[in-house]
Amino acid sequence: MPEGERRHLTVLFCDLVGSTEIASHLDPEDWREIVAGYHHAAAEAIERFGGSVAQYLGDGVMVYFGYPEAHDNDAERAARAGLAILDAITKLNETREHPKLAARVGIDSGPVVVGGGSGKEADVFGDTPNIAARVQAAAEPGTVVITDAVHRLVSGLFVVEDRGAQALKGIEQPIQLYRVVQPSGVRGRLQAVAAVRGLTPFVAREDELRSLMNRWERALDGEGQVVLIIGEAGIGKSRLIQRFHEQIAGTPHTWVEAAAGAFHQNTPFYPVTELLGELLAWRGNESTEEQLAQLESALELAGLKSAEAVPLLAPLLNLPLPAKYPPLALSADQQRRRLLATLVEWAPGAARVQPIIIATEDLHWADPSTLELLQLLVEQGATARLLLLYTARPEFRAPWPPRAHHTQITLNRLSARNVRTMVEEVAARVALSAATVAAVVERTGGVPLFVEELTRAVLESGEAKIIGRKIPVTLHDSLMARLDKLGPAKEVIQVGAVIGGEFSYELLHAVHPIPEEDLQGALRSLADAELLYVRGLAPEATYQFKHALIQDAAYEALLKSRRRDLHRLVASTINDQFPALNEAHPEVLARHWTEAGEIEPAIAEWSRAGEVARAHHAFTEALESYQRALALLNLLPESAERDLRELELRQSEVQMLWVTRGYAAPENRAATERAVVLAEKSGNLTQLVNLMISRGVNAFSSSDLLFASALADQALELAPREGSSNVFARTHMLQILTRRFRGDLSGAEEHFIAGLKFFDDPEFKHFPGAAVVSFAHASLNAWTLGRADVARERENRIVEIAEGNNPFEIAWSTYNRALLRSSAYMRDHQQAEALAERALELSEKNQFPNVAAYSRCVLGIERAGIGRASEGIALIRQGLTDLLAVEARLGIGTFTAYLAAAKAQAGAIIDALATIEEALRTNPDQLFNRPEMLRIRGELRLKHEETEVAEADFREAIALARTMSAKAWELRTTMSLARLLVKHCRRDEASAMLAEIYNWFTEGFDTADLKDAKALLDELVN
Ligand SMILES: Nc1ncnc2c1ncn2[C@@H]1O[C@H](COP(=O)(O)OP(=O)(O)OP(=O)(O)O)[C@@H](O)[C@H]1O
Ligand SMILES: [Mg+2]
Repeated sequence: MPEGERRHLTVLFCDLVGSTEIASHLDPEDWREIVAGYHHAAAEAIERFGGSVAQYLGDGVMVYFGYPEAHDNDAERAARAGLAILDAITKLNETREHPKLAARVGIDSGPVVVGGGSGKEADVFGDTPNIAARVQAAAEPGTVVITDAVHRLVSGLFVVEDRGAQALKGIEQPIQLYRVVQPSGVRGRLQAVAAVRGLTPFVAREDELRSLMNRWERALDGEGQVVLIIGEAGIGKSRLIQRFHEQIAGTPHTWVEAAAGAFHQNTPFYPVTELLGELLAWRGNESTEEQLAQLESALELAGLKSAEAVPLLAPLLNLPLPAKYPPLALSADQQRRRLLATLVEWAPGAARVQPIIIATEDLHWADPSTLELLQLLVEQGATARLLLLYTARPEFRAPWPPRAHHTQITLNRLSARNVRTMVEEVAARVALSAATVAAVVERTGGVPLFVEELTRAVLESGEAKIIGRKIPVTLHDSLMARLDKLGPAKEVIQVGAVIGGEFSYELLHAVHPIPEEDLQGALRSLADAELLYVRGLAPEATYQFKHALIQDAAYEALLKSRRRDLHRLVASTINDQFPALNEAHPEVLARHWTEAGEIEPAIAEWSRAGEVARAHHAFTEALESYQRALALLNLLPESAERDLRELELRQSEVQMLWVTRGYAAPENRAATERAVVLAEKSGNLTQLVNLMISRGVNAFSSSDLLFASALADQALELAPREGSSNVFARTHMLQILTRRFRGDLSGAEEHFIAGLKFFDDPEFKHFPGAAVVSFAHASLNAWTLGRADVARERENRIVEIAEGNNPFEIAWSTYNRALLRSSAYMRDHQQAEALAERALELSEKNQFPNVAAYSRCVLGIERAGIGRASEGIALIRQGLTDLLAVEARLGIGTFTAYLAAAKAQAGAIIDALATIEEALRTNPDQLFNRPEMLRIRGELRLKHEETEVAEADFREAIALARTMSAKAWELRTTMSLARLLVKHCRRDEASAMLAEIYNWFTEGFDTADLKDAKALLDELVN
């Protein structure tokens, strides 16, 4: 690590109070000795808690926790060290002659850069040391004061006193401070968490619990059992034990538990003392006499002789040996052996009184004496009603050989489903988006501790979503500790982290060319440390981070400059040596160039990534790639060349916006407008006309028919000058759309005929939906003009266009066919319903919101048509809401009219009448289906017994249909009118009218309207 590292560091600052004053009364040599004594005592306390002295400044001392090596609890270590230093000073003060020293301790935690140098002399850049010094100065003599940042990391572990927010010299914002009074006495993180905020409801682990229960039942039968629970930090070992404890609450038993401590790896029998304390049920406030009496009776109960056992046990329990017990005349070693023997005898003895569970946690930290005892218990506990529960992290190797009564449980990561449950529980009432939950699942890799902390960090950020690679502060130390433990493999994992969540051995080696044995060794140790999954054998292997948080931590530790260099190296390596990767995944290359700050190649690769994604129909990814290219392009200085590139990218962006957001979406209006500005600057005619049409499509889809028509006419004027098939095709397309909607059905027809020879142009077909739309509207138009067969021919062309595998074209064409077959047009219910269902499914699956909304409306019309009125109403309503969400106002009036019809079917006539009025008001310049809307109103009015106005509606509809030659509407309305006339004894008039329009038709006699008309006619004639 030559050039430095970004780390999270806890800094402790300790200084003597009034030392100048004290020194002035002393001989300098004596003073020097006293200071040395204090330094020595402080250093000892610091070392015990794994800190490293960075610097002595006069009689002050600055200490790092978390560097050069991180531990998963550096803040806790610092606070304990602070208390220990004060204790040590108190001890020094107890010696006679010693001047009364007092010290203050200040602690802060935060992000820093540790630069250059090595080990202790490393320079630290960042506010943390400075803040720690200021906090120290603000502390009362003889106290340890921590900042809010430290407090968050140790909450629950200490009794603290709130010192309020204090302004510190040279620091902008006041900082909330706490005085650390003493350890709170909770054991470990789990208890602290439980005390501070309660535990997350337990999930999963059914098999493990069953296995524990099973062992417990055997133990109850007198077959002593040993269960060792292994798993990485935070995986849930302690929680499993706690859960098991809850589960057996109903069975009488003695439960004692203790944990080996990270700070007590050299304290003999550390957890054993605690276990005994629990076994003796000491509350901590009894006199030594009482304690002794309890010990004696417990020993007797377990069948041990007090006279022999008490002298051995008393020192362990910190009990003064009373006079009635003669001191032991044994060597230290003999004493130890006897003590072990006594302890080993005690457990089964106690188990005779009541079944007993001895839970000893965190064996990876156990002192050798404790381990020896545990091993003896393991070997000799097989015949007692005894269950030994042990937990350890994976680095622990059990020193005992496996036996029949031993079980090992390895805790795996939680499944994604369980993680989701946990996230929901932690988030409680805050609903997190599906994307956030998915991100938590992905980043935490099923480690419950990570799940809790990351979820909480998301909630605390107030954003309710995950931003970038941010690592929760509460996990910094734990993650860094895992990395620091790796030694030389750490650099390998960091290079891997730069390459990505998954990387091949080949690429890693190319980027990080250390000798193969070293690299493979490092990768093996990374897999052993549960940080990477491996697939295949090196050099063919690929590696994947088990959870993104570790990847992020490895990455975040790199200096920004080093990250940039590595990204550049990865990019150029892929570029030069990995043609297949380069070819298939330009987005990977693009990302590396971007992170390397190499804008030019990044833009080029993002553009290419957009094309590749689009070719694979990954429209959202394509859109994102184009947008990333555009964002970088904005960083380049103004130039005509830059503008040209932007113009091209904008057009690609617009097309992807059509697909992913819809033709009318405001984002695509903005992008189109921007492109127009650029095209006007460049004066390129092709671009100008193309953009004019794109604008027209946008205006049309948002129901601004006037503007769309104006643009269509301008395009028509310019097209011959431009001259390309594509522009002709698109111009005719826009003409078909605008003319048809304005009610110029024959004009639309003319443009379709004129456009036909251009519609096969590949460039034209490349515009999403362009060919489908042209044929679809031509088909609907033909039907309206009374040419059902022609309509069906054109429908076949839509089917052909969508025959590829482009899901957008398929969804769009399926929707358009559904509309043609729907009861709004051909009334082929079966086909229409099936097509609408399929279009909806496809567009939801592929996230085409526009198509989905339209399809939902048509499906609603069909459902209402077969009597499922309320379902139909709900579908149309939802469809309308969704259309408005993407600003597709084009179909609002039409579908509102069918909503009115559906409401009438449900019997809500009054409501239906109001709705049809709303429909008629909505898009008044859309004449093409106004006759149909008037007919619907007429039918509704009839139902409401308003015969006269109904008749007026029908007559108005027929008159309007005639002006457009909309034979289909005319026929349908004439039937409505005919039925009304018959009721009022005007049968002859009715049959004459109907015959006239019916006889006009020359095709489509198999369609529902014509069949109905025929039947009605026959009825009228007879
Ligand atoms: N099955 C579970 N359901 C719900 N929460 C869980 C589950 N397992 C663990 N947790 C939560 O995850 C956090 C970490 O669990 P725990 O403290 O048991 O891990 P550990 O394996 O003992 O870690 P360490 O090795 O650091 O002691 C705790 O807050 C715990 O409540
Ligand atoms: Mg634990």
